[in-house]
Amino acid sequence: MFVCLGNICRSPAAEGVMKSMVAAQGLAGIEVDSAGTASYHIGKLPDARMVSAAAKRGYTLSSKAKALNKELIWGRELILAMDKDNFEAIQKIAGCEVPHLKPFCEFLDTNWPRDVPDPYYGGEAGFEYVLDMIEATIPEIIVNCFRN
Ligand code: 4NP
Repeated sequence: MFVCLGNICRSPAAEGVMKSMVAAQGLAGIEVDSAGTASYHIGKLPDARMVSAAAKRGYTLSSKAKALNKELIWGRELILAMDKDNFEAIQKIAGCEVPHLKPFCEFLDTNWPRDVPDPYYGGEAGFEYVLDMIEATIPEIIVNCFRN
């Protein structure tokens, strides 16, 4: 489960790319999900700017935003926080350390930033950059966490 702030830009994009790459690799039994640490956008489809940037690369984003809660945290095997603020917010929601919580960028080499930047208040390039980061990270997540 990927977690960002609003669950309308970064984490649904990661969810869509992961679903697509999992399917392309023929991996079965991997459930992919996302949530937000804030509740402003519950029930909404992903941001139209992210939907169109993702569509240009062949990904369909169709999840509806939901807010992270304790049940989701403990019901998932792996939680990937898109940035440090959300990493901390997830621990606050849990009320304790979450052993299966990791920073998303842990799977990227150090040439990349340690956080996926929030694209919401910026321009188109920010959405493209988020997708660049996600496309670089997901294959590493699959190899490191889901292939024996
Ligand atoms: P996300 O982006 O966390 O990647 O979904 C944001 C979406 C909405 C807001 C902030 C970030 N917002 O302030 O409404």
